[in-house]
Amino acid sequence: MKILITGGAGFIGSHLCDTLLAAGHEVVAIDNLSLGRKANLAHLEGDARFRLVIGEILDDTVFAPLVAGGGFDCVFHMAANSDIARSHAAPSIDFDRTFLTTFRVLEAMRGANIKKLVFASTSAIYGEAGGLVAEDHGPLSPISHYGAGKLASEAFISSFGENYGIQSWITRFPNVVGGRATHGAVFDFVHRLIADRTALKVLGNGKQVKPYLFVSDLVDAIMTVFTRCDEPTNIYNVGVETTTTVADIARFVLEEGGIDAPIVYTGGDRGWIGDVPQFAYDISKLTRLGWRASMTSDEAVRRAARAIWAESL
Ligand SMILES: NC(=O)c1ccc[n+]([C@@H]2O[C@H](COP(=O)([O-])OP(=O)(O)OC[C@H]3O[C@@H](n4cnc5c(N)ncnc54)[C@H](O)[C@@H]3O)[C@@H](O)[C@H]2O)c1
Repeated sequence: MKILITGGAGFIGSHLCDTLLAAGHEVVAIDNLSLGRKANLAHLEGDARFRLVIGEILDDTVFAPLVAGGGFDCVFHMAANSDIARSHAAPSIDFDRTFLTTFRVLEAMRGANIKKLVFASTSAIYGEAGGLVAEDHGPLSPISHYGAGKLASEAFISSFGENYGIQSWITRFPNVVGGRATHGAVFDFVHRLIADRTALKVLGNGKQVKPYLFVSDLVDAIMTVFTRCDEPTNIYNVGVETTTTVADIARFVLEEGGIDAPIVYTGGDRGWIGDVPQFAYDISKLTRLGWRASMTSDEAVRRAARAIWAESL
């Protein structure tokens, strides 16, 4: 297939580019480099089946012509604002980058008659729903603008599916970690320590506890859902059954960096307004496809810390 990946220079998008090329597809990535990095794709330079377009999805003079003339069979829509805390002060960041990019992708697909969409959704759409949350949980009450932007995106993917026959694979990710990260707790802690090795500042009380999935496992799960499911709309939670506390993330980052420094907590049960301090996913729908994460949440965080230290020094 010829595949368009939005946000292809980002953390997850760049790993997806690798996997799709390895599977024999032709790949075009578009990214405005607001959070992504050209370096994440530098190793693909010279690959005749790959092209990076540096451009803005919300710019009609760039995106619609790219999609219209591209001959794409499928779009993997990964572009979004991934800095959840930032939009508390400026909600339009998530309206534009998390929601409106999806709408523009759908409109461009409608115009170009592209019928397959893989979408990066998130556990944030569930807000602070208690218990083990399954795909059919409702009503959905996100508590971050980011979660709201993703939920609105899912709603339009549903209506575009019904109106124009666009088939979708909506994969709802937990926290994802690994090399080439552009954000997230492991990335932030490493960079805080590079700036100041005498102490590690941690937002909240360190007791936030969530599942962390390694990026190669995530990409493998997305590909499992994409290749094995064929309903008009395919919605799957992606995750791992184990969890890691923020205090343990801080400890793993210090240990992997070989640094002995105190951890200073800012206090409070969450890192920022809109942060969901703990959640648990029901991933049984995915495991029924025969998929399982290859490592625990703790192993994923440790491995990510090692990779991010190695690429940051
Ligand atoms: N990393 C996680 O833990 C996680 C969890 C749940 C969902 N997700 C979702 O997965 C997707 C990928 O996330 P990521 O962690 O790789 O983040 P990322 O920020 O590294 O990747 C997103 C990419 O999109 C690009 N982008 C943003 N707005 C754009 C625009 N208007 N035009 C063109 N490019 C634009 C950014 O430059 C960036 O490279 C996102 O949709 C994110 O919401 C990520």
